[in-house]
Amino acid sequence: MSRNTRAVLHGDALRHNYQMSKQRTGQAESLAVVKANAYGHGLSWVVRTLHDADGFCVASVDEAAEIRDMNVHQRILVLEGIQSIEDAVLAQALGLDLVVHHHTQLDWFKAACCDLSSITLWVKLDIGMSRLGFNAQQIEAAWQSCGALSQSRILMGHLAYADDLDSSDTARQLARFEAIRSRLRPDRVSLANSAGILAWPDSHADLVRPGLMLYGLSPVKGRSADEFDLKPVMSLRSRVISVRECQQGDRIGYGGSYTCPDRRQIAVLAIGYGDGYPVAASNRADVLIRGHRCPVVGRVSMDMTCVDVTVLESISVDDEAILWGGCLTADDVAQSSGVLNYELICGITRRVESRPLLDQDASLR
Ligand SMILES: Cc1ncc(COP(=O)(O)O)c(C=O)c1O
Repeated sequence: MSRNTRAVLHGDALRHNYQMSKQRTGQAESLAVVKANAYGHGLSWVVRTLHDADGFCVASVDEAAEIRDMNVHQRILVLEGIQSIEDAVLAQALGLDLVVHHHTQLDWFKAACCDLSSITLWVKLDIGMSRLGFNAQQIEAAWQSCGALSQSRILMGHLAYADDLDSSDTARQLARFEAIRSRLRPDRVSLANSAGILAWPDSHADLVRPGLMLYGLSPVKGRSADEFDLKPVMSLRSRVISVRECQQGDRIGYGGSYTCPDRRQIAVLAIGYGDGYPVAASNRADVLIRGHRCPVVGRVSMDMTCVDVTVLESISVDDEAILWGGCLTADDVAQSSGVLNYELICGITRRVESRPLLDQDASLR
């Protein structure tokens, strides 16, 4: 790959983080959330690496079909459920688990005329996010309608505030869920995402849906991934393609948003927003080169990013630059750039070469 911009992927870290979900939640099934190309980490690599996971969650029937094509026989849950009559037919043929959050989906099931008796329907209760799901008045009818299609039903909810340990909203959401659970008496229920798994034991229930934590980022505000014993899965790396000396007053990049205060050594890296490195990192984030944190200067452009490497005793074209990895975590970069950590990792684009770490690559750890 001539640009030499790579996402180095640590399979042992991914497996470790999945085990953290299992350890925290006892007997619960842990369904690894791998939507959006496994949060930018590569769907097929993640699914193969977690080949013995209890199951997987995706956003759409198309994503689920991609996983079934890999000969995966475990449970695959489609979090947004079917979007058409054709989806209903395909989901039934593939034996997918389906979220049901809207009565239109029930109409599509009926129109598709397929036998759903062996399909598990996850009936979604809106416990306060006002996004998907039936409210407290609608849920009983939806539960009965799903029961007419399949006896295998799970009552599910989704936590909207679990990342905030100081918020009283999660306790309120749990109470709303409990009130409906005691009315409907489902055999199985599911509530917890990563933050629920790590910080809200009362949300664990029968099946959990870990996403962000699998990739080694923190789902809880003010707490590091390390505090939860999570290990970073991706390290984003590129190379120096040019080094130049700039003088006092020289302005760097499009729009000249950085002006050199004195003589500065500036290195240009072969990575930019076309690779998923965010413009928001401009003049805010650091990059690791030769073990030092070097600040990003000027606006990140599509293919290149400039960093101030004046602190380095020496620097050469072709030196490696670590955008995140090692002691500079993706959480650090997200925080200093002011972007959501989820958005940062999901933004990695196809032109970044994925390089699963092999045992002999000790130097990349
Ligand atoms: C319904 C549902 N469950 C679980 C998850 C996983 O969440 P997290 O990545 O915070 O663990 C998501 C992610 O968006 C989701 O939409």
